[in-house]
Amino acid sequence: MAGAPERRFFFGRARRSARPGETLLDALARGGWPALQRSIRYHRPRGPFCGVGYCTGCLVRVNGRPNVRACRYVPTDGDRVATENSWPSPRFDVLGAIDFLFPHGIDTLHGFVRPRWATRAYHRVVRRLAGYGAAPEVGRTPPTPPPPPVRRTVDVAIVGGGVAGRAVAAHLAHGGAHPLVVDRALAPEPVAGGELLASTTVTFLPAPVGTGDHRFTLLGFEEPDRGVEVTARTVVLASGGYDAALLFGGNDRPGVVTADGAFALCGRDGRRPFRRAVVVGGGDRVGEVLDRFGDAVAAVVAPGGISPPVVRRASDEGIPLYPRSRIRSAAGRGRVRSLTLEPRGGGARFVLSCDAVVLAHRRLPTSQLLFQAGARMEWRGGPGAYYPVLAPSGETSVPGLYAVGDVAGILADANERAAERVAAAVLGAPASGEEPLPRVALEGPNELEGYYRELASLPRSGRWVACACEDVLLHEVEEAHARGYRGIEVIKRYTGVGTGLCQGRYCLPDALLVLSILEGRPAPEVGYITQRPPAVPTPLAAFAAMADSPTGPEGA
Ligand code: FES
Repeated sequence: MAGAPERRFFFGRARRSARPGETLLDALARGGWPALQRSIRYHRPRGPFCGVGYCTGCLVRVNGRPNVRACRYVPTDGDRVATENSWPSPRFDVLGAIDFLFPHGIDTLHGFVRPRWATRAYHRVVRRLAGYGAAPEVGRTPPTPPPPPVRRTVDVAIVGGGVAGRAVAAHLAHGGAHPLVVDRALAPEPVAGGELLASTTVTFLPAPVGTGDHRFTLLGFEEPDRGVEVTARTVVLASGGYDAALLFGGNDRPGVVTADGAFALCGRDGRRPFRRAVVVGGGDRVGEVLDRFGDAVAAVVAPGGISPPVVRRASDEGIPLYPRSRIRSAAGRGRVRSLTLEPRGGGARFVLSCDAVVLAHRRLPTSQLLFQAGARMEWRGGPGAYYPVLAPSGETSVPGLYAVGDVAGILADANERAAERVAAAVLGAPASGEEPLPRVALEGPNELEGYYRELASLPRSGRWVACACEDVLLHEVEEAHARGYRGIEVIKRYTGVGTGLCQGRYCLPDALLVLSILEGRPAPEVGYITQRPPAVPTPLAAFAAMADSPTGPEGA
């Protein structure tokens, strides 16, 4: 990559360039915190949130193609990049007036129905106000046929090339196997002893069929739109986890990011995407944020306790700590400027000034493929999420399907042992241990449950966004409950929560906790929505190319 030329592209009318290895988001973030999106109902400004290709905060239009995720797109020379869903620009969007005119939200369920003679006009208005952008431009540029798909038939496929996936690959290679590692990272290191499919997201893992040697079929795509199909005898899921969202007023402000998002905004040159960040959380993940941004962290705020290592670290660096604090609201329109807090035990509210809020309080498993494959899942109350039921070997309830690392809820210091066991089981070697490995706590309650219970009884101000993709507010979820709707599946259909592009990753975990409080029953009884493929939005061209080329060439 050294010595590779910069790529020049247009962002609106401005000329910009991307250095070798930079994503579009990296390149745009060099000019400050990028303003790329407006929310679909209230036209509130939105910025990058997750940094890992799941949210809707960095969607842009590239060469007429809508909804390209800037954090997953590597620009090429001459690209024309534009923002969507705002007019005339994301920084000054006149439709943002809706945010002021409808302080309690637009009632899209019951509004826009009377008088009936105006229905057609309503439809036009609603279409203009809502949505992620215009359809692709057809005819301005000749359609480019998608590249031929990549096809592999392997003994062992490992989904995820992080610490856990690589550890399994190393043990398998040591035992003489040659696994295929499918990794989403755009530029990962090579895998010793295995083959690597980089920039590749597996979006569909159907339950295996038959009893033959290669029962698993993994479908996905290599960025931006190349279809990938892998058939395998054994699949090891090491798809990791992600940083969760949090409910508070103004939680959708640009500048509120997950730890993953903050890391992504650093870019390859290690620049700081903020000057004064408030970090939310009290555990190991906060330590990782401090490692990276210590001198740009203004305070650490935790809904619950703060672990001794973080306390020691913060004291050494003179960073103020606010354990057991309620976050009431973030202020600042184009970008977060301050955070209002109050002690949970009672005490006066206070304000911290900041230009970013980094959410590092809760890691959740990236478990969609486990649901799709039909693995038996169990609720683990500690983190408040579903994890696979595992045998001591790491095998799930689906024979031949293993899980390891964060997606399995294995604690970090047991990851190496877990990888060794999975590899031994896959290779058919004698079991290297029968006692269960340490995992995230099975018994709850989750720390956030008590936190949200307290908040539920307090007056709130500002927009508490329950589902950022679909602009569903927390009070709409509460209203649905008050109208007698019960269970997450029904609430989803009624309010739209969980139906957006992130597939519920960021809204459902908190919605489950809130509904469990409102309905007075444990979160698992509130249910879970069906995890339908694809696990992330997948270009149709990728799948179409596979259908067009059933026995086509194997890609490199
Ligand atoms: S920041 Fe790119 S998808 Fe979330």
